[in-house]
Amino acid sequence: MPGRISLGVEWVDRLIEGGLPKGTWTVLTGEPGVGKSILSMFTVGVNLGKTPIVYVTTEASFHDAAEQAKQFKIDLSTGVSLADILGGRVKEAEDLVFVDLFGLYREYRVMLKANEEGRRPVRALSIDVLRGAINEAYKALGVERGDEALVIIDSMSAFWADKPALARAFSYGLRQSLYRQNVTVLMTSQYAPTTDSTFGFGLEHVADGIIHMWMDNVQEAKEIRRWLIVKKMRLTNHDRRAHRFEITPQGIVEAPTGA
Ligand SMILES: Nc1ncnc2c1ncn2[C@@H]1O[C@H](COP(=O)(O)OP(=O)(O)OP(=O)(O)O)[C@@H](O)[C@H]1O
Ligand SMILES: [Mg+2]
Repeated sequence: MPGRISLGVEWVDRLIEGGLPKGTWTVLTGEPGVGKSILSMFTVGVNLGKTPIVYVTTEASFHDAAEQAKQFKIDLSTGVSLADILGGRVKEAEDLVFVDLFGLYREYRVMLKANEEGRRPVRALSIDVLRGAINEAYKALGVERGDEALVIIDSMSAFWADKPALARAFSYGLRQSLYRQNVTVLMTSQYAPTTDSTFGFGLEHVADGIIHMWMDNVQEAKEIRRWLIVKKMRLTNHDRRAHRFEITPQGIVEAPTGA
């Protein structure tokens, strides 16, 4: 039995034999507003102090994410921004390095300047920047090869916003270049209800686990009805039914099915 990394929501952990198998890659898919970012915040919260965490966000500044987390009593105040580390404003990280790819862009350009000669400039949301940033975050946290760590990437969709056809190749490249035996990865990805396929379909093929979240059609249901199902999870005899849930100030709460 592999060790498990809790997602921070007990009933979701129970669906997957206690949590994500250590060292695997899982993608949280679902439409906008369904709860992907909030679930990944709970995962950060419950693992703080237990394992070094790299928390990448393409959507919010550290400040905004910390504010949202606070609403659910998750305290991210021990986290430091990689932008502050690269900018020399902060010396070391305790247990959480936050990579705000928008905020980081300028610092990153400076840091990578030495490698840029003769190469095309590094774009903000490229896989290269992501890979470089995660490696810098490992350094700040003192994570060596073979050490355990948790990497959260919220969200991956931004990386192929302008080239969805390349998502699969990117996902493959990313997994190969970031692979480390004891690093557990949780990524979010947007699901496009109009095409019924994940935006930039490709991550699911590369991932060991898929947790899918969706909402019933709001015009028909006339309310927000959220669902979660585990579509796949390597090394796990996972639950195979859809579960209704609600997001309340208490968190991600299981709701009675058929209610
Ligand atoms: N304090 C709160 N209490 C209750 N519900 C909340 C609270 N904060 C946020 N929510 C609910 O969570 C939703 C946002 O969830 P979240 O940010 O996790 O979505 P997401 O799946 O990451 O969406 P996107 O793909 O747009 O990033 C809000 O639209 C709201 O319905
Ligand atoms: Mg989100």
